[in-house]
Amino acid sequence: MVPTVDRRGAMAASSDAGADLASRFVSLFAETPRIYRAPGRVNLIGEHTDYNEGFVLPAALTMACWVAGSPRPDAKLIVHSENFNERITGPGGARAGGWADYVRGVALALKAAGHQVSGATLLVRGDVPMGAGLGSSASLEVAVASALLDLSGVRMDPIELARICQRAENEFVGARCGIMDQFVACHARAGTALRLDCRSLEYGLVPVPPYVRLVACNTMVRHRLAEGEYNRRRAECEASVLRVASITPGMRSLRDVDPAWLDAHGHEIPDRLLRRARHVVTENVRVLEAAEALGRHDLGAVGVLMADSHRSLRDDFEVSCPELDLMTDLARAVPGVFGARMTGGGFGGSTVNLVHEDAVDELCRHVATKYERETGRRPDIYATQAGDGAGRVMVES
Ligand code: GLA
Repeated sequence: MVPTVDRRGAMAASSDAGADLASRFVSLFAETPRIYRAPGRVNLIGEHTDYNEGFVLPAALTMACWVAGSPRPDAKLIVHSENFNERITGPGGARAGGWADYVRGVALALKAAGHQVSGATLLVRGDVPMGAGLGSSASLEVAVASALLDLSGVRMDPIELARICQRAENEFVGARCGIMDQFVACHARAGTALRLDCRSLEYGLVPVPPYVRLVACNTMVRHRLAEGEYNRRRAECEASVLRVASITPGMRSLRDVDPAWLDAHGHEIPDRLLRRARHVVTENVRVLEAAEALGRHDLGAVGVLMADSHRSLRDDFEVSCPELDLMTDLARAVPGVFGARMTGGGFGGSTVNLVHEDAVDELCRHVATKYERETGRRPDIYATQAGDGAGRVMVES
């Protein structure tokens, strides 16, 4: 069997995608649009740390959400989704549990933050797989927000842009996500991972060695409990902070806790809350070590930290699942794979693999064959390189 390998590294493909969307816009709306894109992401390490004011190390994918748009003379928002072949009129409207919630949420959050966005006609097409844990929601939010702002002539600091998109998801969509996905969608640079301090929002770019590929393997499962369990993990982290603060007043998030403190006081915290806290506290240490190791091209050290991260997510934070565990085990058996772990919120979705460019084909072949044999599901595999953050794209008309 020949596995499906999707290589979306080529930048040339970007402008083709933009030109294609532009001509589709012209045929639908008889106007020449401006084109915007915002990428999905893989997180190399630092999972469930963002909403605990911790550290993360994501990289943008070259897969992205694309928006073609033109301004309107009225205040209306007309948005057509190519992925769903549906059209909505906004900005207001009830929450419907689908793609349109992200769009409405962003338009309303921009207004609520006091930004005068005018009406617009938008055509949206995303190629970040949905429900795969690769940041498709944030790519939609950031692409739509970038379009609405630019079409209205409003300039915005990218940190503010990321915050507003996160707020849209927290308040309108109802998912209590952290800021990682939106932040990396706004700030990423090709060829680098982004080390972000989610407390101060200070960040640095860490070059990914040019011979390294980021390979995302989609388990093709998304367990139904995912969203509820995500919000529950947040609540458990908050509960563990209350316990921590009752022992050492003044500690206000798990970011304030270090491993030595946990060794000394862990026995005073109920087991489940202790394990949640231990994941976050040790993961923060791993992110800083991994960013340093990546910076000095020590991929072996990064791989060890990724394996520790996966184990901690599986055993202490309990957000992995048998399919993710299998997928990472399969990948680690392939020579030239430096590291593998689950990426994103968990309960299905994808793994991220750091792979030598020469080993990509073998990884894809091995994982696709063995994973399908064991689970009956054929995985989608995306071999890519770290891509750029959001922006307007100039296309030839
Ligand atoms: C999802 C959320 C992020 C982050 C990850 C887990 O992707 O959107 O904010 O919390 O889960 O690290």
